[in-house]
Amino acid sequence: MNLKDSIREIKDFPKPGIGFKDITTLLSNGEAFKFAIDEIIADLKDKNVDVIVGPEARGFLMGTPVAYGMGIGFVPVRKPGKLPGEVESFEYGLEYGTDTLEIHKDAIKPGQRVAIVDDLLATGGTMQAAAKLIEKLGGEVVSMQFLIELEELKGSDKLSNYHVNSLVKY
Ligand code: PRP
Repeated sequence: MNLKDSIREIKDFPKPGIGFKDITTLLSNGEAFKFAIDEIIADLKDKNVDVIVGPEARGFLMGTPVAYGMGIGFVPVRKPGKLPGEVESFEYGLEYGTDTLEIHKDAIKPGQRVAIVDDLLATGGTMQAAAKLIEKLGGEVVSMQFLIELEELKGSDKLSNYHVNSLVKY
């Protein structure tokens, strides 16, 4: 299946000159959504993953079905002020500005093998911040999984110390 067929491009969003890759058309296509999730699960199969981490918000959409399908837990990485327990924080550069991400301090146990799942690799700032949070808690990032990679932004250069898999490249 060619997943690009189910990803819609919206011109000039969120600002002029940007061709936004809209995954809502993939999510609403049951066959394409299942295919994408199954591809990620297949790539993670032999990596002895203990837990899936997904960054807010679209990382939740991709990460939770992967965790469910593998029969393992899901841990959210969230924007500031959303998690109720004690958090670890990390500031990062985003495609359109800067932001901070947080994770519950007790969500990852030292030595756990973690795969991070997100919809999009752009500059790599979000994924790098998520990895730093996991590593601060003693977890090992064994894989980074993306639905889409925007190759011209060279995010994978930032993530060269990790195993990276992206299903669709533009
Ligand atoms: C988008 C996307 C990735 C991130 C990729 O999230 O879902 O998480 O940007 O960009 P980067 O590689 O340059 O860091 P966004 O922060 O827009 O949040 P959302 O999922 O809540 O829309």
